[in-house]
Amino acid sequence: MTQILFVTDLDHTLVGDDFAHEELNEWLLKARETGSKIVYSTGRSLIRYRELAAEAPLFEPDLLIASVGTAIYSRLEGEPDAGWQEKLKTGWNRDRVMAVTAHFSDLVPQADSEQSAFKVSFFLTEEVAIWLLPQLETLLKQQGLDVQLLYSSGRDLDILPRHANKGSALTFVRQTLGFEPNQTIVCGDSGNDIALFAAGSELGIIVGNAQPELLSWHRDHPTPNHYLAKSHCAAGILEGLQYFGFR
Ligand code: GLC
Ligand code: MG
Repeated sequence: MTQILFVTDLDHTLVGDDFAHEELNEWLLKARETGSKIVYSTGRSLIRYRELAAEAPLFEPDLLIASVGTAIYSRLEGEPDAGWQEKLKTGWNRDRVMAVTAHFSDLVPQADSEQSAFKVSFFLTEEVAIWLLPQLETLLKQQGLDVQLLYSSGRDLDILPRHANKGSALTFVRQTLGFEPNQTIVCGDSGNDIALFAAGSELGIIVGNAQPELLSWHRDHPTPNHYLAKSHCAAGILEGLQYFGFR
């Protein structure tokens, strides 16, 4: 078996079909025995990750990328990677971002657990997002705040430092673990996963239940490196691994 770096989103990608998830786990654990590395990349904080791990058949990964790429954990009981946190500081001023978002009463703050030093998250409906996001972006720019707005699943808005997302965290982890892009497989279903697919020449599996924002990005950026599965969640990942000749 070739050694691969396998990086997957959790909600509605790896998690969602327990039967296929268990089957995929067997394959992943076997791959790990021969030197492959398994990384979970989630929008959830570590606290919310633990809640999911208590419900779903998740084994402990080699690394956890949490909070949409803003925290990287090599040990789940430890602190996030300090080197990565340091990189995120550039151009980021959380208080000033908060001051701008306070102008919009339609932005509903997410739970405290999902707010962190390098991530400010809100709930926002699709109807409001259409007019609010351009205004918010303009205002942030006018204030000299060079940040990143990520809208996922018609519901979640994350405001992150310019260089923080699942893609930049993937590149950092890939280089740290010593894998080439062509030895790397990424899997996802929604807006915050676009950065995983846009990172470079990694192989990508988009699960069949993907959200419209990822599907439309995929249509606009066609490449033989990305496979759009028919099956949902882990069954879609299994389908993609077969398509790329890994199983
Ligand atoms: C997860 C996080 C949430 C974030 C969303 C999209 O649900 O808990 O904070 O907004 O992913 O990235
Ligand atoms: Mg997801």
